[in-house]
Amino acid sequence: MAGKDIEYGESPPSGLIDCLRRARRVAVLTGAGVSAESGIPTFREAQTGLWAQYDPMMLASPQGFERNPERVWNWYEWRRELVGRTEPNAGHRALAELEPRFAEFTLITQNVDGLHRRAGSRNVLELHGNIARNICSATRKPIDDDWIERHGDEKPPPSPHDRHGKARPDVVWFGEALGAAVLDRAFAAASNCEVMLVVGTSGEVQPAASLPLLARDHGARIIDVNPERTSISAIADWHLAGPGGQWLPSIVNHL
Ligand code: OAD
Repeated sequence: MAGKDIEYGESPPSGLIDCLRRARRVAVLTGAGVSAESGIPTFREAQTGLWAQYDPMMLASPQGFERNPERVWNWYEWRRELVGRTEPNAGHRALAELEPRFAEFTLITQNVDGLHRRAGSRNVLELHGNIARNICSATRKPIDDDWIERHGDEKPPPSPHDRHGKARPDVVWFGEALGAAVLDRAFAAASNCEVMLVVGTSGEVQPAASLPLLARDHGARIIDVNPERTSISAIADWHLAGPGGQWLPSIVNHL
């Protein structure tokens, strides 16, 4: 059964629906693919992925920021505008609809776009931060939007907390550690869940990619929703081959 591809157009398998109906504790892991249908590019897809067009070490690492803070700030301004123009899609909305059906429901996302909360999801763990917020590059203390607006002609704005610091987005860059508290909660949710639903991640970035393995090793059933096969599809009980915006509403409708 593991890794069997189910093409979109078929109903979700009855075993999958039964398993969700019986579950009390569900965890979800999402990646860039869940926001693709909102018009936000993913990272690793050939041609269209952000990392096919831009060097991540230049734009998403502390070294890249040190070398050219203005370039990094401007790139994040562009992504913020892009995210600001988008809306949650049917996949985000279906996940928000699923949440109240279970006693425990934890949505762990690698995305920084905030679309899960905008769709109505409540128990959301943002592993890689949130692009809408800013922190000080020296102290990591939060910087509020008023300060950023008042210093908007400087790119990046200075930090109110440290004269050597600058404003930077509150996201995790390559080479940086994830927040310990959020990571602990994600590991706990993965170890405790009965079902883990994975949507739109290539499973190539740690530690997020280890969460489905952890869940499986603790006895959870794994559902992977992704048009492509990944290392997660290979360990999943069901691989729903197709877009999240189609499969997730279909699951909700069959529950
Ligand atoms: P990737 O770009 O690595 O993978 C996106 C996945 O989404 C691919 O496997 C696609 O096949 C799949 N996909 C595309 N369209 C989809 C759709 N409509 N429905 C469902 N799936 C779809 O993105 P992530 O796995 O999220 O980190 O990447 C993980 C991290 O790498 C990101 O959080 C980011 C990046 O570097 C940081 O910025 C720290």
